[in-house]
Amino acid sequence: MGPPGAGKGTQAKKLVEKYGLVQISTGDLFRAAIKEQNKFGVIANYFIKYGYLVPDDFTNEMVYDYLKEHLSEFKNGFILDGFPRTVVQARELESWEREFGFKIDANVNLDIPEEELIGRLSGRRTCRECGNTFHIMYKPPKVEGVCDVCGGELYQRSDESEEAVKVRLATYEKQTRPLIDYYAMKGSLKNVDGNQSMEDVFKAIEDVLEDK
Ligand code: AP5
Repeated sequence: MGPPGAGKGTQAKKLVEKYGLVQISTGDLFRAAIKEQNKFGVIANYFIKYGYLVPDDFTNEMVYDYLKEHLSEFKNGFILDGFPRTVVQARELESWEREFGFKIDANVNLDIPEEELIGRLSGRRTCRECGNTFHIMYKPPKVEGVCDVCGGELYQRSDESEEAVKVRLATYEKQTRPLIDYYAMKGSLKNVDGNQSMEDVFKAIEDVLEDK
């Protein structure tokens, strides 16, 4: 968990590389659905473009379908990147743990001040082909506009406009902050300082997950 631009995707990819986990990013699933213009994509497009969360029942249905289809392939475990984002989603996830028989080991939250997020989001560049992310200052690609990993074109996401970012940050405070409190009350919240170098954030996450 963490606000928009906190580094969730960046850290999830590092965990995938090092531990062979699978990253399940709801943002990526929605963007793929929009590209395919399937039923999830048509609805999600509107909410994402303006910076709102996609409604819970819709999001839950998409993640449930995905887990049902792919869970048996995830031999080393998986990371949910950007899910749950509301208490309703968290409760649904708890019911899936019982239904599918998996267990979420930790709820990691990247803590970071709002002023840092704006700079991260405005400088981010995403690969159209493989979804890898770069930053014009903090993680520049070797060749401007070209993905180091697959050679695809780098672009700025449509929800990175100033207006959409403002809405995303306000939405986070209103709808996701209560989820952080929910996990804190349950005793499963692991806060990590996200306002450090990417490598130091990664080390801090590894420390938190060490006993798992
Ligand atoms: P999603 O794609 O998940 O967007 P987000 O949560 O707003 O998060 P971001 O992807 O923008 O940021 P990030 O934390 O992954 O940061 P990143 O690693 O890229 O979701 C998009 C939309 O889909 C939502 O707004 C919503 O509408 C919908 N949606 C998704 N899930 C949903 C759900 N569960 N329920 C309902 N709706 C849902 O890093 C950002 C930049 O900073 C990069 O350029 C990176 O290189 C750089 N960076 C990263 N770490 C550091 C560091 N330590 N130092 C310097 N730079 C860094």
